Amino acid sequence: MIPKHVAIIMDGNGRWAKQRGLPRTAGHKAGAETLKKILAHAQKRGIQTVTLFAFSSENWNRPAEEVNTLMELFRTYLKNDIAELTKKGVRVSFIGNRMKFADDIREKMDSLEKETQNLTDFHVVLALSYGARDDIIDATKRIAGEVKSGKIAPEAIDAALFATHLSTNGTPDPDLVIRTSGEERISNFLLWELAYAELYFTPVYWPDFDEKEFDVALDAYAKRQRRFGRVV
Ligand code: FPP
Repeated sequence: MIPKHVAIIMDGNGRWAKQRGLPRTAGHKAGAETLKKILAHAQKRGIQTVTLFAFSSENWNRPAEEVNTLMELFRTYLKNDIAELTKKGVRVSFIGNRMKFADDIREKMDSLEKETQNLTDFHVVLALSYGARDDIIDATKRIAGEVKSGKIAPEAIDAALFATHLSTNGTPDPDLVIRTSGEERISNFLLWELAYAELYFTPVYWPDFDEKEFDVALDAYAKRQRRFGRVV
């Protein structure tokens, strides 16, 4: 029982760094290394899609120095590591408000997405400047516009139609969500899409999360009985 889609809240970079007397930004750098290892391992384990919460719409409010370091990390990561992945046939896409990023970062997101849109082996979705409530509000506005213009009737609105207006349209809902660092909440991540996901929380900080810890999460998932509200 391998989940098709795993969503990950990569939390605990700051605490990992603090524990070692390092600046928070060192935690993010270590977190980027973890990300590489985990993506390679997820693909090896036969998972089809991994969605990663890398930067929330609220994270812009962190101290400027930390935001700048994260932007520099994203810039390098997109240009090197992610570009490398795409050469190996990995599809990459992005959810979140990309208008807030510097031009070169946004252009890189657009081009990576476009170049890999037809690849099917393994799909990596990066949530950057993402907030699920914003996504749901945007979808609602688009649907309201379509109702107003007469394109759709209000009675035609159902869960399937709603989902096609979200930024995650076309990607199956996550089967498993992992949050590291001991925090046990969803924090405005994929609120609609996680409706039936299995939740897995681990006290391990993201930079210390490794292949072995990932396998522990997959083993826990395999033991869960998914009922989707039905009786088995
Ligand atoms: C949460 O830890 C982590 C983030 C807000 C940033 C996540 C970024 C990475 C893992 C870097 C690599 C990502 C890419 C795409 C290159 P936190 O800072 O909230 O930690 P804390 O709760 O211990 O303070």
